[in-house]
Amino acid sequence: MRSHEKLEKNVGLLALFMIIAVSLGGLTQIVPLFFQKEVNEPITGLKPYTALQLEGRDIYIREGCVSCHSQMIRPFRAETERYGHYSVAGEFVYDHPFLWGSKRTGPDLARVGGRYSDDWHRTHLQNPRNVVPESKMPGYPWLNENQLDGSNIVKKMKVMRFLGVPYTDDDLKGANKALEGKTEMDAIVAYLQVLGTAVKNKR
Ligand code: HEC
Repeated sequence: MRSHEKLEKNVGLLALFMIIAVSLGGLTQIVPLFFQKEVNEPITGLKPYTALQLEGRDIYIREGCVSCHSQMIRPFRAETERYGHYSVAGEFVYDHPFLWGSKRTGPDLARVGGRYSDDWHRTHLQNPRNVVPESKMPGYPWLNENQLDGSNIVKKMKVMRFLGVPYTDDDLKGANKALEGKTEMDAIVAYLQVLGTAVKNKR
């Protein structure tokens, strides 16, 4: 029996060789990305999240905003006209985990920073219908009432530093102070207002 015939007639062997072939194909596509500058170096002007923004990001995760909002503008005319410059890999190198999302019940938020005032966001998050009458977004009134629990902030920033975010010792030292007297609303608004601002070419 010729060797290729043996391979085709033995399902186990065939599956094994398929796995090897697909893995090699995948690796040749994925591994070079680890060494490409434009996918793993921050774009100029990208700053690590401040302590307050980082806490806001965690609240964004806790409240499940990512299940209705993407943070990833694709390079299509329909998207760039509406949201601004398409997203680039270098914007996300300090995001652990990234929050690109995969569902848009609401608009993409990748460039929402600076589009509205802080007051607009506060009113909107309290009850979206107060500013957008037809909105389907739920309200988050407790964000105003909840004092921010920043007790883990130094630990969180240390973990981020371990993952490659360039926090300095001064950043860590000042973190607790920066959160004093803040509410969860303050934190999430600070986070929303910085989204996408490192890329200048906005809508
Ligand atoms: C059930 C889906 C849903 C969830 C969950 C949700 N949103 Fe929304 N969001 C929407 C919809 C729909 C809109 C568009 C209508 C409006 O502006 O209220 C919107 C709009 C927005 C806007 C305005 C965007 C723009 O460009 O006009 C912001 C900012 C926003 N949401 C933030 C949040 C945050 C922060 C959270 C989590 C605390 C959240 N959303 C949770 C559905 C959702």
